[in-house]
Amino acid sequence: MKLLFVDCCISQRGEGSRTKKLADAFLTAFREKWPKLDVETVTPEALLALKPFDVEMLNERDALASVGAWDAPVFNLARQFRGADAVVVAAPFWDMSFPAALRTYIEYISANGLTYHYDETGCHGDCKAERLVYLTSGGDFEREDSVGVVYWRQLAAMFGIPRFDYVFAGGLDAAPEQATELLAGACALAEKLAKEA
Ligand SMILES: Cc1cc2nc3c(=O)[nH]c(=O)nc-3n(C[C@H](O)[C@H](O)[C@H](O)COP(=O)(O)O)c2cc1C
Repeated sequence: MKLLFVDCCISQRGEGSRTKKLADAFLTAFREKWPKLDVETVTPEALLALKPFDVEMLNERDALASVGAWDAPVFNLARQFRGADAVVVAAPFWDMSFPAALRTYIEYISANGLTYHYDETGCHGDCKAERLVYLTSGGDFEREDSVGVVYWRQLAAMFGIPRFDYVFAGGLDAAPEQATELLAGACALAEKLAKEA
């Protein structure tokens, strides 16, 4: 079982990141369920080093795709994402969604012909993972149709990943006196999800 952990826990709290605590709760429980688990992590530093695609980069990537050069470095993240058995994405709730570095990562994994393809009936996913879990923590309480959650739900469908789950640890700044309790509840939910299926 190979789990890809996309760690976008960019936080001024450092190791005290609430989002990271949520991710650790999930990963610890998942490791208990899958003792031989192989975890590959995309670190915050790696995410922040990604350059958004400009026209030249897009043209180069299209040229490589047109000759099936999927082993080119520009496809490294997409190949890694495609081959994972499970994916966990953790990111704080920033500016109604998530940090820009994660959006840039999405540009890299969205490789037409590798992680998804089109035919006359539309878009089809080509990724191996059975499930994708999105973990986030926010200052405000969770609202319906949270953009980050909706976005990752739709990405999972686009990549052909059948099961999507999420945990939104909300209200951590709105109700600071309850933050410890709210986060603990979210961590318990993440642990429960990790033990399922
Ligand atoms: C740059 C930035 C943007 C944020 N934007 C929002 C927001 O739009 N809505 C919200 O409810 N909280 C927002 N927050 C608060 C964080 O979501 C919240 O404190 C979260 O728990 C931070 O996670 P961390 O402890 O892992 O850093 C923002 C925080 C930062 C630093």
